[in-house]
Amino acid sequence: MKAIYTRRSIRKYAPEPVPRDMLRDFVRAGMNAPSAGDQQPWHFVVVTERSLLDAVPSFHPHAKMLLEAPAAIVVCGEPALEKHKGYWVQDCSAATQNILLAAHAKGLGAVWVGIYPKEERVKPLQKLLELPTQVIPLALVPVGIPAERVPPANRFDPARIHRNRW
Ligand SMILES: Cc1cc2nc3c(=O)[nH]c(=O)nc-3n(C[C@H](O)[C@H](O)[C@H](O)COP(=O)(O)O)c2cc1C
Repeated sequence: MKAIYTRRSIRKYAPEPVPRDMLRDFVRAGMNAPSAGDQQPWHFVVVTERSLLDAVPSFHPHAKMLLEAPAAIVVCGEPALEKHKGYWVQDCSAATQNILLAAHAKGLGAVWVGIYPKEERVKPLQKLLELPTQVIPLALVPVGIPAERVPPANRFDPARIHRNRW
């Protein structure tokens, strides 16, 4: 509960690299997400090459933090792996949220950078990372040692709770 209530998007990072084992742990957290019929239609691309990270803001208007980030995990879906058609986005979203919470729980900062369904982000990222055409990047998650503090948010709104019927 503490991790859920204190997680915020972190967009400034110290230059130190993120240990390889930690990045692996975050991917493991992603792979532990629920998915429709346990179909796990995902792939994860762990990006640490400076030139690749630096290229993202050239086609993504809200990704300037990549210029500072020492690493990023790209969460991708492969619809051909679906047993239950149409659920890959929800499955990969659950994986993305697991990665955000895992990073925060380990004291690292991260942010969900949206890719799919925007074609003008999907296509250049597929090209940059040499993804097969059937593999669709859903989200990119930069991770690094936080260089900013963002206070917890309280978004609880009882007006959005409906009991039994609307
Ligand atoms: C689907 C999705 C796409 C997002 N895309 C971006 C993005 O492209 N760039 C960015 O800086 N933040 C992005 N965010 C992060 C949101 O701006 C952030 O989660 C929201 O403002 C709430 O703030 P918090 O994460 O600090 O609680 C995205 C979040 C989601 C869920």
